[in-house]
Amino acid sequence: MDVQPGILRPVPRLARYLLFSLRPSVNPADALNSLATATDGDTTVVGIGGSTVHALGVDLPGLRVFPAHVGAAVAIPSTPQALWCWLRGDDRGELLHRSRALQNSLSPAFRSEKAIDAFQYGPGLDLTGYEDGTENPEGEKAQEAAVVNGLGPSLDGSSFVAVQQWIHDLDTFQAMPPQQQDHVIGRRKSDNEEIDDAPDSAHVKRTAQETFRPEAFVLRRSMPWADELNAGLVFVAFGRSFDAFEAQLARMVGVEDGVTDALFRFTRPVSGSYFWCPPVARGKLDLSALGL
Ligand code: HEM
Repeated sequence: MDVQPGILRPVPRLARYLLFSLRPSVNPADALNSLATATDGDTTVVGIGGSTVHALGVDLPGLRVFPAHVGAAVAIPSTPQALWCWLRGDDRGELLHRSRALQNSLSPAFRSEKAIDAFQYGPGLDLTGYEDGTENPEGEKAQEAAVVNGLGPSLDGSSFVAVQQWIHDLDTFQAMPPQQQDHVIGRRKSDNEEIDDAPDSAHVKRTAQETFRPEAFVLRRSMPWADELNAGLVFVAFGRSFDAFEAQLARMVGVEDGVTDALFRFTRPVSGSYFWCPPVARGKLDLSALGL
């Protein structure tokens, strides 16, 4: 079975994230079966949340609850959701109409909770102006980091995704002198070079994937977002399990050494959810791991 192709493809020009909760006392099987047929995993990537798995009365090994963290300078919320759809495209009108069609067909079982419009900024920049995704694994390494392999026929080809909506305080970030901004990220904005003597709090020092034991590689597919009031990043990391993401997040909040990631000086997550992204077979989602 294959991974949903949209996971491995480059980030699209535009996207819309849809989040759903489960309606009370409803069996989501029919809605999921029609979603599976309508979804190719390419223009729409689908992730299924824990409550949906519970409602089907099955167990999905590896799917757990997003860990909350609280510290003096950080608050990481855990906000479980039942279903996540990442609509990928390049036309905002078309994305809106696809969203409406999905929301309508899912409506008997799933209530639409949120839609987030996302976009690419320049050549894949975060709204701070720093390139995001430089150290992403590519090719076979991306596949190895992001795709389940060796867990059996109905799980192989699936992926686990961590999704967090972050709100940036761009005024605070832009008020920092350029060198301070570079030290927050740990790379130079001017040429994207890594800064060897950046402080321990620098984001890329916290998260350097090859420094973890075991190494903690994830496939990031984050995108900037904005609405009428706020702007930031929808952080999206696919993994063959949640272990690598959890190790990185723990270091960011200072669990190991008390050092907090400098990112928290200007941005904060307002959501945090885990989903299981089923594999695809013959051009549709394969939900056999859910007994469907
Ligand atoms: C608002 C939130 C975030 C922003 C703006 C952000 C931005 C960046 C930037 C600019 C880079 C450097 C270029 C690159 O390699 O991509 C980076 C690297 C990275 N980030 Fe983030 N990031 C955010 C949140 C997170 C979170 C929550 C995690 C995981 C828990 C994470 C994991 C990573 C990893 C693994 C790297 C590559 C490190 C390496 O191996 O060199 N990021 N991020």
